[in-house]
Amino acid sequence: MSPADVIIDLKGVSKRYGVGDAESYALRDFDLTVKRGEFIMIMGPSGCGKTTLLNILGLLDKPSEGEYILNGQSIERASERKKARLRAKKIGVIFQDFNLIPHLSVLDNVTLPMVYAGYTKTHRELMADKVLDRFRLQEREYYMPYQLSGGQQQRVAIARSLVVDPEIILADEPTGNLDSRSSHVVMEELKEIHSEGNTIIMVTHNPALTSYATRVIHMLDGQIDTDIKTVDDDDLPQPVEIHFRKRKILKEVKAALSGKKSEDLDEEEQITEEEER
Ligand SMILES: Nc1ncnc2c1ncn2[C@@H]1O[C@H](COP(=O)(O)OP(=O)(O)OP(=O)(O)O)[C@@H](O)[C@H]1O
Ligand SMILES: [Mg+2]
Repeated sequence: MSPADVIIDLKGVSKRYGVGDAESYALRDFDLTVKRGEFIMIMGPSGCGKTTLLNILGLLDKPSEGEYILNGQSIERASERKKARLRAKKIGVIFQDFNLIPHLSVLDNVTLPMVYAGYTKTHRELMADKVLDRFRLQEREYYMPYQLSGGQQQRVAIARSLVVDPEIILADEPTGNLDSRSSHVVMEELKEIHSEGNTIIMVTHNPALTSYATRVIHMLDGQIDTDIKTVDDDDLPQPVEIHFRKRKILKEVKAALSGKKSEDLDEEEQITEEEER
């Protein structure tokens, strides 16, 4: 495998809380290399550092020591602006308790990440429509979160995490508050997203779900206890598919905005590299 296939690299990462006698490590000298297209499930007892790990990967928290390299770039040296941009465009996060904004409709919840990512209103609505359609949530566009079941709320949260087409999806016990039927629906959606070449790192307490993973990591006391790959690196979904899909969506949005069919866009109207990023 070439180095380009590595999307995440943690080197000797520690997260320390407290000082002196009260000092404790949530993560200790943690190494993790993730290839593009992996679907990793993280398991382990309460307090072993799973959420801490996801928070660091999602740029919501900083390591006390060690290095985090995302897409070949060291995060420590990235500016706050660059980090915010990476967070908005490259990483989708899904939580156990859905974390929808209660006073915003389904549509407004889903478009929120695109506001942060700097898309125009028309762009946002077009992309939200597509993603809500995909998750069969379009008829609930104007519902408020409290009018939805837990399973529907989590599907809105997944739609929200995917609306900017991130390459990495981090999910902290996404099925923890769902019944088995809704849990199944959510897992099938994550499976589909993975098959399109996205990288997923998911925390779960449910061993039955590990059949969806390409790699299962058990943690203990802030470290990796066992790490088992069940799919060969060569058989992971190809990143080229992500690229293709992203171009296609951008092209459709651009075409819709200019009132043309996407195949009729002029040369100069084609997607520039800057837009693609
Ligand atoms: N802000 C904080 N201040 C002090 N200690 C913290 C803080 N956040 C987490 N910890 C500690 O870090 C350790 C790891 O916590 P973390 O939330 O990562 O565990 P977890 O594996 O996600 O557990 P669970 O399965 O219960 O969600 C715990 O011992 C916790 O008490
Ligand atoms: Mg946790």
